[in-house]
Amino acid sequence: MRKILVTSALPYANGPIHLGHLLEYIQTDIWVRFQKMRGEQCTYVCADDAHGTAIMLRAEKEGLTPEALIDRVNQEHQNDFSDFLIHFDNYYSTHSEENKTLSAHIYNACKDAGKIATRTITQAFDPEKQLFLADRFIKGTCPKCKTPDQYGDNCEACGATYTPGELIDPVSAISGATPIDKDSEHFFFKLPEFQDFLKEWTRSGTLQPQIANKLSEWLDAGLQEWDISRDAPYFGFEIPGQSGKYFYVWLDAPIGYMASFKNLCDKREDLDFDAYWKAGSDAELYHFIGKDIINFHALFWPAMLSCANFRTPSAVFAHGFVTVNGKKMSKSRGTFIKARTYLEHLDPEYLRYYFAAKLTSNVDDLDLNLEDFAQRVNSDLVGKVVNIASRCAGFISKRFDGKLSSDSSEPELLQKFIDAGDAIAQRYEEREFGKAIRLIMELADQANQYIDEQAPWVVAKQEGRDAELQQICSNGINMFRQLMIYLAPVLPAMTEKAEAFLNEELSWSSRHTLLLGHQINKFKAMMTRVEMPKIDAMLEASKEAVVEEMALNATKETRKAPGGENIADEIGFEDFAKVDLRIARIVTAEHVKGADKLLKLTLDLGTETRQVFSGIKSAYQPEDLEGKLTVLVANLKPRKMKFGLSEGMVLAAGPGGKDIWLLEPHPGAQPGMRIM
Ligand code: MSP
Ligand code: ZN
Repeated sequence: MRKILVTSALPYANGPIHLGHLLEYIQTDIWVRFQKMRGEQCTYVCADDAHGTAIMLRAEKEGLTPEALIDRVNQEHQNDFSDFLIHFDNYYSTHSEENKTLSAHIYNACKDAGKIATRTITQAFDPEKQLFLADRFIKGTCPKCKTPDQYGDNCEACGATYTPGELIDPVSAISGATPIDKDSEHFFFKLPEFQDFLKEWTRSGTLQPQIANKLSEWLDAGLQEWDISRDAPYFGFEIPGQSGKYFYVWLDAPIGYMASFKNLCDKREDLDFDAYWKAGSDAELYHFIGKDIINFHALFWPAMLSCANFRTPSAVFAHGFVTVNGKKMSKSRGTFIKARTYLEHLDPEYLRYYFAAKLTSNVDDLDLNLEDFAQRVNSDLVGKVVNIASRCAGFISKRFDGKLSSDSSEPELLQKFIDAGDAIAQRYEEREFGKAIRLIMELADQANQYIDEQAPWVVAKQEGRDAELQQICSNGINMFRQLMIYLAPVLPAMTEKAEAFLNEELSWSSRHTLLLGHQINKFKAMMTRVEMPKIDAMLEASKEAVVEEMALNATKETRKAPGGENIADEIGFEDFAKVDLRIARIVTAEHVKGADKLLKLTLDLGTETRQVFSGIKSAYQPEDLEGKLTVLVANLKPRKMKFGLSEGMVLAAGPGGKDIWLLEPHPGAQPGMRIM
């Protein structure tokens, strides 16, 4: 039995899981389920990546402590994963005692080995927030094309890259203050001293060829020391013996893999931490990650581990990025799809299957083409696989009391299905899931062809052919069973339904036998077709979610006001004067088909009427709105939504939900009046 420890990258605790993330967790989960099904001791751990400035700021914005925020998000993440049938043996947080201890231990080991340097550096500092600013927290005008409001490291308009110092009129993205330069002592990990070790490690078969090549370019260009400290205020672990200095989030994040496993070992008798992590361990250790975080996993991480006398990863498996309909996921196109939004409209196994069918072992990006997605799932799973069972099951239950024939009339054909298991297993092992699926679907085609040729529905109508009918249908059901064994790592819920139908538990080794003379249960639908309207509704809901998020951010800001804190960043009068606020009368309000939160409003502006979609359905019945007054942002750029054009934005007060208040009608307030 192999001892295998598997991880997926730890998702940041400041945002929801989306379909891009899911590629990775689904890929890993399939691989782990495959190993477990084969009887290996395979353990899958993960955690939320809970530290860093972004999380600290997010918590502040929501009026929460970082601890409260990361607890809430941890729960949300776990719910999303579990609903996508992603099964971790342990899901933890990097903000844990185990991680604190292990991080201190590894840091001290590196320090004792002379691999930590200290030096004073100069950085941009927000004098108002009293915070050092990473590049992405500085905004300004692009030095090249002069587009305003660009981030500190690159320009979205012209693509130029630069340092924040080169920005024209730089400001802190957090407070709007002009950053000043400030000195501070930082701690560095002496990565260049691991050059030779890393040259060997990256070439030892631990990495995919594309990645090994990329890394060898970096290694040849020479490595830089790695800044592992951040100044207070920071949400993370304080560096031992250095008050006010914290470990940079990327130092303790990968150690979070170990910490999650340590936490599990303390709960489980059969797992020994040292057996998996001590130098020289014979256990296998695999990290599944996205291509954007290779340097952290294939340079810093193995160097730190080896320095602290731990084993290094057996391999790092990187995947590419998810695009939707050929483009980067985008909030305005509705293709930035959260796990939860998907689940509200579609079956998680559709996505598991589609990703599996398209996954390879390399780092190419993977396109989720939504039409292809529907077509593929419908034709493969519903049209081919489930169809085999549904075409045979009825005859077995009605004519033979649910009993399969006691021998097979097609031993050779069924042997082909059994033999194919070796090649399929090899594809799973190599993470060539697409190839595994292709082999499985070839078998499904053969099974359907067999049933077409034998036409049990014809045989059933002819007298004296009962034994033959039972044989044909039993063969069909045995072929279906083989396919389900092979698909089990991808489709755990459908496998459970198949097990209930077959009245048998499936494992990888059960493929060697046939189900003969066996009692099966009544066939129930195992999967329904993907419907395009549901996909459209999901995209629409994703667009709505963005509108809601903006509204939520706005109410959260105002909620702080009673505490006397800042309401929002200050703007000058000129900025305010640009906003054209008008009184509008709601003429009609209607439900919008396919939208959970929006109402369609027709507004009277005195001189013209406008159509605006507004997320106030939670507080009002449409009929109650007619005749009410509201404030309209009249010069907001019109937004094209699926339901139609939204020409402006309606303003209201209140925390949201049931409590959203419009203006009270007043004889002096007439539609079209400008508000100043
Ligand atoms: N917190 C770090 C990882 C620390 S691991 C010690 C992080 N978090 S993340 O939430 O941004 O990403 C988690 C994983 O999801 C990463 O492997 C990342 O590559 C992957 N993906 C995020 N967006 C993705 C796509 N659009 N497509 C595919 N994978 C993507 O990075
Ligand atoms: Zn530019």
